[in-house]
Amino acid sequence: MNTVKTVRELRAAVARARSEGKRIALVPTMGNLHSGHTALVTKATQRADFVVASIFVNPLQFGPNEDLATYPRTLAADQEKLLQAGCHLLFTPTVEEMYPHGMADQTIVRVPVVSEGLCGGSRPGHFDGVSTVVSKLFNMVQPDLAIFGQKDFQQLAVISALVRDMNMPIQIIGEPTVRAADGLALSSRNGYLTEAERATAPVLYRVIKQIGDALQKGEKNYAQLLDDGRKALETAGLRPDYLEIRQAVSLRPATPDDQDLVVLGAAFLGKTRLIDNLHLAKE
Ligand code: PAF
Repeated sequence: MNTVKTVRELRAAVARARSEGKRIALVPTMGNLHSGHTALVTKATQRADFVVASIFVNPLQFGPNEDLATYPRTLAADQEKLLQAGCHLLFTPTVEEMYPHGMADQTIVRVPVVSEGLCGGSRPGHFDGVSTVVSKLFNMVQPDLAIFGQKDFQQLAVISALVRDMNMPIQIIGEPTVRAADGLALSSRNGYLTEAERATAPVLYRVIKQIGDALQKGEKNYAQLLDDGRKALETAGLRPDYLEIRQAVSLRPATPDDQDLVVLGAAFLGKTRLIDNLHLAKE
C-alpha cells in the first residue's frame, strides 16, 4: 500500500490503476480507524479492484467549540490496519493541500433539506463541510463507488443526495454499523469516554432499539415513544440532543402512514457526544 500526500500523486496513482482497467473504490475517513472503518475497506475490496482510502481531519466540518484540535491522529496504526484490510492507496493530505486558497475562500457545497435538523441543527455548518470535502475527494479520485458507514446515517443521506443532485457517476454504498458486544456503535469518539461513561454509553442504542421494536409492532404514537425514550436517556445520565423518528430517505419527520422509517438519536455523556440510529427493515 502506497501513502501519498498530494493531489498530483493521488491522481497519477489512480490514473495508472484505471489504465489497467481497474474499478476504483474510495473510502473517505478522518483516521483513528476501528473495525467499523476496516469493514468499509473490506467491502470495497469485494466491490472494486483498486481501493483508495483517505485520512483527513477536515477542519471545515468542525464547529468553533468542537474537538478539531484533540481529534485523535494515529497515522502509523491506521496505515497498518488499512494494509491488513487490503487497501491499495492511502491519501493523507495536509490542510494546505486540500484548501490551498484558504478555507475562507473555499467554494462550499450545500445539500438542502437532508442537511438540516438532527446533527445539522446541533452542528451548524457541519454538513456543508462534509459535502464540500467529499465533493473534492470525489473530483480528485473519480471513483466508481464510495463506501460510508450507516452509523452516520444523516451523512450517508446527505452524500447520496449530493451525488444524485450533481449527477456524479459514483455508486454510494452504506455499510451496516459495527457494534461492541454490548451494542455500542464503534466510533473514534468513544475513546473520549471514561470507564464509567463507557459502561453507560450502550443505553443510547438500547433506547433506540426499544423504540424500533415498538414501531415494528405497529405502535403509532411517536410522540409518546420519543418522550419515554428521552426520559430513559436522562435517567441513565445522558443528556439527549435529539431523538427522532424520520422518513429514511428524505429524513423529514415521519407520519403514521410512512413505511420506511429510521430512529435517530444523539446524546451527550459527559463531554462526549454520541450518535446512533436504527433503520427499520420494511416488512
Ligand atoms: O465520516 C467521516 O469520517 C467524515 O465525515 C468524512 C466522510 C470522511 C468527511 O470528512
